[in-house]
Amino acid sequence: MFVTTQELMLAEIAASLHSSQPLRRLLICGAVPEVSLLHWLRDASQNLGSELAKPYHCFATARAQFLVADCCGQNDDLETFIANAATADSAVVVVDARHGVLEQTRQHSHLLARLGVGHLLLAVDQMERVDWDRGRYESIAAAYHEFAAQMGAPSVRCVPISSQHGDHVAQRSSAMPWYQGATLLEHLHNMEIRRHDAAHPARFVVQNVDAKAHRVTGSLVGGAVQVGDRLAALPAGQTATLTQLITNGDAATTLILDAAVDLKCGDLLVAAEQRAEVADQFAAHLIWLGESPLLPGRTYALRTGTTTVNAQITEIKHQVNVSTLEHVAAKSLSRSAIALCNIALDQALPFDPYTVNRHTGSFVVLDPVTEAKVGCGLINFALRRASNIHWQAMKIDKQARAETKQQRPCVLWFTGLSGSGKSTIADLVEQQLHAMGHHTMLLDGDNVRHGLNRDLGFTDEDRVENIRRVAEVARLMTDAGLITLVSFISPFRSERKLARERQTAGEFIEIFVDAPLAVCEARDPKGLYRKARSGQLPNFTGIGSPYEPPETPELHLCADERSSPETLAAQVIAVLRQREMI
Ligand code: ADX
Repeated sequence: MFVTTQELMLAEIAASLHSSQPLRRLLICGAVPEVSLLHWLRDASQNLGSELAKPYHCFATARAQFLVADCCGQNDDLETFIANAATADSAVVVVDARHGVLEQTRQHSHLLARLGVGHLLLAVDQMERVDWDRGRYESIAAAYHEFAAQMGAPSVRCVPISSQHGDHVAQRSSAMPWYQGATLLEHLHNMEIRRHDAAHPARFVVQNVDAKAHRVTGSLVGGAVQVGDRLAALPAGQTATLTQLITNGDAATTLILDAAVDLKCGDLLVAAEQRAEVADQFAAHLIWLGESPLLPGRTYALRTGTTTVNAQITEIKHQVNVSTLEHVAAKSLSRSAIALCNIALDQALPFDPYTVNRHTGSFVVLDPVTEAKVGCGLINFALRRASNIHWQAMKIDKQARAETKQQRPCVLWFTGLSGSGKSTIADLVEQQLHAMGHHTMLLDGDNVRHGLNRDLGFTDEDRVENIRRVAEVARLMTDAGLITLVSFISPFRSERKLARERQTAGEFIEIFVDAPLAVCEARDPKGLYRKARSGQLPNFTGIGSPYEPPETPELHLCADERSSPETLAAQVIAVLRQREMI
């Protein structure tokens, strides 16, 4: 789940200490009022939150206490906005009466609705600047209602206010006698909160397990549990009955079960009769946060709660245009794009649709190399396509195949700029291995692109797919017991990492054929650099498209004018000997 920032938890605890009133989580976003409307809300209540870290505020009225995330003016911090929206019960979207519903209002509202905020309240602010004009307010409110209906937002209210003077924030306004509806604060009080809905299926996230004592510590993230309930451990699947329940205030809850079940940190205990699904492929809405675009086929890390697995976005079904809500085709996603995607994991995980449970129905996507957060996902449903395909175990395995060849299979992965000499060196190495009696296969970018990969070009997306496929082919080749030479530019670290992970540890030898761009360009064996410089070849590696050099290759070959391909090939053979591969 992407929302439990520590500040938020602290803020919630701080709030609940002060009052026995139910806590309502509120998010305020939109145009920046000159005098924050929070001022008037606090004025009408008891301010509880002076000790809270920005952007949180807390105040209590006689009827409720509010934990407010003030996201006004934080238009760039999408991540914080999402984190707060995913825990908010209701949101106040502030617009300026002079400008009405803007692109940004739509984007925020769309995210709020998608993230499950139950109530949207449009505050049409700066009414004093439009002479308290009823017509102006009503046309803005009508436009917003129409947009909200299109989105399927559950509950929408509008209120004309002045955050400068306080009109209709906490107090009624004599300046707008034509408005007879509730004030902003009254609306907030009236919004019914169903957060701790016991009717939702029980979901308990496991943090600690004492297997001998059948004792599990963790936190309840959905529904309720009581002694006597039958619970299922997921993903393992066994069931047990809850015999004791120990809660210690705000800290973790401890469950004692009547039998041993297979659980580890990050697993789920769920109502046995209403289980979460376990699947390794699902459809989800992704909100992309990465500075670099999402590329389908790239392997990312996907984290749900405390479990992290490898994941690929196998297909972008459509991107959502947040202004018009239209579905548009997309090959990649840039920052702040929202799209429905198919996602494949390398291991099955338990989950719920986001609409059933915000916690077990969401995940974050991390960059595979830097581990930075690059996306948030809201799960829609499992894809069944993989469930009838099982791995078939065969009697003859990689080891048996390698034994008849009397060799150790491995991958020699040559990476470097076009013209660096990868293919020439790989060719020489293969000739020598062949002469020694080894069974080899050479996969060369130019050649594989004539057949298997002939549908692919040189955009980032296509290069990711190019390397994904050749990494899989290399895996099949080593499974066949072959010493496999791969000579592809393979410009991205992420995909080389994926190729490495597809091989047994120690059997992937990354060889950086390092020739400076100027040297490759001077060689220009196929005349491609000349074409690229003259603008006839876009996305050419090193010119219009990046090359990310390996940080810790097994072998770094300095492939400038000073060394001949023969000496470099000899270095490769030496490494193979040193590693006892040959
Ligand atoms: S990779 O980047 O996707 O790994 P790959 O190794 O398959 O590239 O193919 C590179 C070969 O394609 C180069 O050796 C060159 O002959 C040719 N080529 C054609 N267009 C480009 C381009 N835009 N960028 C790089 N190489 C290109």
